Parts: sequence; structure tokens; C-alpha cells
Amino acid sequence: MIKYLGSKRRLVQTISSLASGCGASTAADLFTGTTRVAQELKRQGAFVTAVDTATYSEVLAQCYVCADATAVDHAELAEAIAELNALPGRRGYFTEVFCEKSRYLRPENGERVDAIRDAIEERHRASWLYPVVLTSLLEAADRVDSTTGLQMAYLKQWAPRSFLPLSLRVPELLAGPGRSIRADAREAVASIGPVDFAYLDPPYNQHRYFTNYHVWETLIRWDAPDHYGVACKRADSRSAATRSVFNSKQTMPAALAEIVSRIEATVVVVSCNDESWLGRDDLLEMCAGRGHVELLEFDSKRYVGAQIGIHDLTGQKVGRVSHLRNVERLAVCGSRAEVLGAIDAWHQQVQASDETRSFAGSPSRPVPLGPRTLGSAGGETLR
Ligand SMILES: C[S@@+](CC[C@H](N)C(=O)[O-])C[C@H]1O[C@@H](n2cnc3c(N)ncnc32)[C@H](O)[C@@H]1O
Repeated sequence: MIKYLGSKRRLVQTISSLASGCGASTAADLFTGTTRVAQELKRQGAFVTAVDTATYSEVLAQCYVCADATAVDHAELAEAIAELNALPGRRGYFTEVFCEKSRYLRPENGERVDAIRDAIEERHRASWLYPVVLTSLLEAADRVDSTTGLQMAYLKQWAPRSFLPLSLRVPELLAGPGRSIRADAREAVASIGPVDFAYLDPPYNQHRYFTNYHVWETLIRWDAPDHYGVACKRADSRSAATRSVFNSKQTMPAALAEIVSRIEATVVVVSCNDESWLGRDDLLEMCAGRGHVELLEFDSKRYVGAQIGIHDLTGQKVGRVSHLRNVERLAVCGSRAEVLGAIDAWHQQVQASDETRSFAGSPSRPVPLGPRTLGSAGGETLR
């Protein structure tokens, strides 16, 4: 499980039960990030289209959403991973920039990344293995990095996990086909086609994924870019082409509203939280045009960086975060019957997991704050 700002790791089961409640056999995850939600939708049998602008996200989707575990040669994959794992390290761009000029990985692991990434390009570029072994390398680097979860500053003292040797694992591929689109969600929305279920999880504030995950962009593109600053960010971080309309307070609400109204989907679920530029009422109003809206709210732990603390650009801890929890919101919209069917399935999943929890214990699950209904007539009522 890679570390990712805004990852819906704790809401995946909720989103998946909403999709199964409306019997979704086709689904779209429009800001797929780690692909966690897309993976769960695929696991429950849907044909999933995963969309994101990030290059690393496209590779993750080609591995977990597009590759079909029933149709690939698992022995070939295991052999490729074993061969890559056996390569000795060799100092190159990655070591110099991310382990000497900055401190993303320990140099001995950076040298392994350089050697393995070059070998992937030479041996697997034209093969189905390419996105799968790249995913394996990205995940291996994430397990031994020295960050607080973002790639904008590195810890002053090496993180204990960074001393572990970098080791590739075979990714757990899922059965069935799927589709990945690397594009701005506003453009992709026209080419996705009708789906039963769409999940929208855009960035909600100024935090840019292109800069926060610049090391992954470079690891996947392998283009040795010019860089700047303590974190050695890509020079093209400064270019307008790498900016997202979802990172501007002026443009984000209208861009999201456009997608909510244009996406061809029976049920649409829009994610937001109480730290977003989009307030609760704005979210409900944006979704009301699709018919009936239910709002689910969850008391949840904030992202990993907030738990670790505030750091300056050299990785030094400079302050405490004001709060460690927030409210995650899911607006579920569509026809009344479809939406209520989805909500019922979610209720059943909560009951089932409560029963399981009383035996097994599951302390990190978000706590539902209760669904609210915005009827098609517009009046909000507590259910
Ligand atoms: C909140 S994160 C999504 C997290 C994801 N649901 C998960 O669980 O990993 C937002 C994502 O939107 C992507 N993004 C930013 N601007 C975009 C755009 N214009 N079109 C599509 N994706 C965009 C970012 O790269 C990031 O992966």
C-alpha cells in the first residue's frame, strides 16, 4: 500500500459497497491516484476505466486495472522480478539527484534503482511486463523511502525503514480486463462512455500531485530532468502544462461541476472533505442536478504527513499540526431508486463489518456520522 495524499484506503469498502448496491458491471474512477478504488471495483467484477493525469498513476492502472491475471504468464513475471532483484547497484542520475543532492532514498538503494530501472527499459520496454515491473519498482522504493509521505522534503535523520534493502515483489494482479486513460478528467469524460457507477475524487486544494510525487514521475518517465530546490523537483513543475485546474480555488468548483453534470453514469459518487475549498452545501448543490442526493460523512484520520508533523524544506520538524482528524464526505447521486439501493448495500456492509469487528477488531476504520438526504425537491432532511 503506497503512501498517497488523499488516498481512499479507509473508504474503499464503503465505495465498493455503494457500487455493488447499484449492481455496477461498468465503472469509472476519474482521479484514480493509487488505483485503490479502481482495484476494488475490478475485484467485485466491474469493467473499470481508471483516469488520472499522473504518469505513475497510468502505470499503476496498467498493472492493476488493465492487466488480466487470468491471461498473463505468471512464471515469466516471477522470473523477471527475480532477475531484476539480483542486479548489483550502479550509480546514475537517480542516486546523484535523489540520494546525494537530496535524501529520498539511501544511496545504496538509489544505486539499485538506477540499475533496475535501466534494465527494465532495456529488457521489457515492448512487453506486457513493462508496467508491472515498473509498479513493482515504484512500490519497492516507497517501502524504503525517507519521507513523511510527500516528496517535497525529506527527513533530516534517515527514516529507519530507509536502511532496509530495496526489494521488488510480484504485484498481485487481478482477474479481468480494464482500461486506463492518462488525461485531464474534463477531457476524458467524453470518451469514457456510459457506465453504471462513477467515482470522482479530485484534489480539493492547492496541494499539487505533480510536485508532491515528482520522484515517481521521474522514476516512471526516466527522462533525467533538470531540477531545482532542496527536494530536487522537476524543472517542468514550473510549467503551466503540469498544473491542474483542481489546484486553484478559482477554477476547481466549476471544473468539478462540469464533470458531475457531463459524466454518463447511473450513479455518481463525489468525494470531498471538510478541508476542501468546496463546502458541504456547494457539494450538495453541485450534485442536485443529477436527481436524488445522499450525503455520507465519516470522521476520519488525516493523511500520514499530518500524523507525522510539519517539516521545513530541509526535512526538519518545525511545528505541530492543528488537528489529526477530519470529516470525509461522499455525495451519492442519481435516480432515487438507484441511490437508495446503493445506500442500503452500504448499510448492510457496515452492519456486517461491525459484526466482524466485534470478533476481529478494526480500529482505523472511519466512523460514519450518518447519512443525510437532499430530496429532489431540494429540502435537506436527516435520515
Ligand atoms: C485525491 S487524489 C485521488 C486519490 C485516489 N482516489 C486514491 O485513493 O488513491 C486526486 C488525484 O487527481 C489527480 N489529478 C489532478 N488533476 C487532475 C485532472 N485535471 N484530471 C485527472 N486527474 C487529476 C492527481 O494526480 C491525483 O492522483
